[in-house]
Amino acid sequence: MEKDVESVIDTDENQFYSKAKIYWSKVSPTINGVLGGFGHISECDINGSELFLKSLFQLKNPPGNGRALDCGAGIGRITKHLLIKHFQLVDLIDQNSDFVEKAKEYVSSDRLGKLYCNGLQCFKPEEKYDVIWCQWVLGHLTDEHFKQFMENCLESLNKNGVIVVKENITSSNEIDVDEEDSSITRPYDHLLKLFEESRLKCILKQQQTSFPKGLYPVKMFALRPV
Ligand SMILES: C[S@@+](CC[C@H](N)C(=O)[O-])C[C@H]1O[C@@H](n2cnc3c(N)ncnc32)[C@H](O)[C@@H]1O
Repeated sequence: MEKDVESVIDTDENQFYSKAKIYWSKVSPTINGVLGGFGHISECDINGSELFLKSLFQLKNPPGNGRALDCGAGIGRITKHLLIKHFQLVDLIDQNSDFVEKAKEYVSSDRLGKLYCNGLQCFKPEEKYDVIWCQWVLGHLTDEHFKQFMENCLESLNKNGVIVVKENITSSNEIDVDEEDSSITRPYDHLLKLFEESRLKCILKQQQTSFPKGLYPVKMFALRPV
């Protein structure tokens, strides 16, 4: 890995997180808000994720359908439109208390389990999960916290459990820094290296299709312990 995230962000680690917190505190608790004005891609995104999840359930040793965790869940968009349809219970975590509060009303299902308001950089799952879904949030973590979080997730997987990572990928080999929301976008090889260093192996990957031109390519990875 040429550079790590820690060396490309302008600020120190605490500021990297506090700037993100301030950014999200000004965003409305709506689908359009959590998707940065791209609310119109939500349906297409969920359809792509649905296909990916179905492929996971068709594996020879598929994950169970007991409990899932939605990480960086925002107002629970993925929980409501995807995870709740496939799992008995779905927990969610986001660092923004307004989003977590809104999620109760937005998801409104007795399958909604525990709601955590915390940063992933300080979070260790306390339950066991069949699927841990991380989408459009890992760019808010430094490389060190990314690896720590993945290792924490690994410890909380049920037998045949899977961590799903769905993230933007840079087309260049450079890490892109977004000063506005205080996040970064990693190149493909960088992500693979982080998986490897977190003792994760990729058992399935797919590219999200049909997104409007001009957006980052988005890839989905299903990860299990090496
Ligand atoms: C682009 S939104 C995506 C929301 C959701 N994953 C979705 O696809 O609808 C990013 C979310 O990550 C949350 N977030 C940002 N930094 C975080 C952190 N360090 N820990 C947990 N959540 C974080 C934000 O509050 C926001 O809800």
